[in-house]
Amino acid sequence: MMMELNDYQYENATATLMFSHEEIQERVETLAHEIDAYYEAQGIEEIVLIGVLKGAFVFLADLVRHLKTNVVMDFIQVQSYEGTESTGNVQFLQDVRCDVKGKNLLFVEDIVDTGYTLQEVRTNFQHRGAGDFKLVAMFDKAERRLVDLQADFVGFEIPDKFVIGYGLDFDEKYRQLPFVAELKLK
Ligand code: XMP
Ligand code: MG
Repeated sequence: MMMELNDYQYENATATLMFSHEEIQERVETLAHEIDAYYEAQGIEEIVLIGVLKGAFVFLADLVRHLKTNVVMDFIQVQSYEGTESTGNVQFLQDVRCDVKGKNLLFVEDIVDTGYTLQEVRTNFQHRGAGDFKLVAMFDKAERRLVDLQADFVGFEIPDKFVIGYGLDFDEKYRQLPFVAELKLK
């Protein structure tokens, strides 16, 4: 079989490069400026950044190092118990420690797909009296959306492909890749 230049071979899979490390870094920096500009225009000086584990940890770490807005950080871990598709049945495995009442929340997600996960999270935090709910997602599979949920800030919109790297996993593997690639099982 012909090896493409941008293909990476793994034990059970081939990964085709979608975004290089450099492209990602450049976009994340711009995204941070967009976020700063938004909060500055709103006159908001401090936000609570809530990372959605596990996938968002790499993106969040890069993003915060470019943000000028004052942030405090917290994390949640959620799981939509299902087979391979999201079901909207979202379970909290880890919750925030801070009081979110009246706070300006910015959720940080690796990827939004059907939107079920973040829709459930949004409803949950609205019930707790969050002041403002915003969402930044590094990747957005907009064409896959099944519910009325939009990310306020998006790194890259991508087609309906399964991607790995930059925090995104297949079966918990490949999160450490510094680039993002489409996964094709062998
Ligand atoms: P929903 O459908 O609720 O799902 O918006 C969001 C979650 O689904 C996972 N997801 C992916 N994970 N590569 C991954 O590694 C992908 O291409 C992908 N698409 C969706 C992810 O956990 C996200 O938080
Ligand atoms: Mg995952």
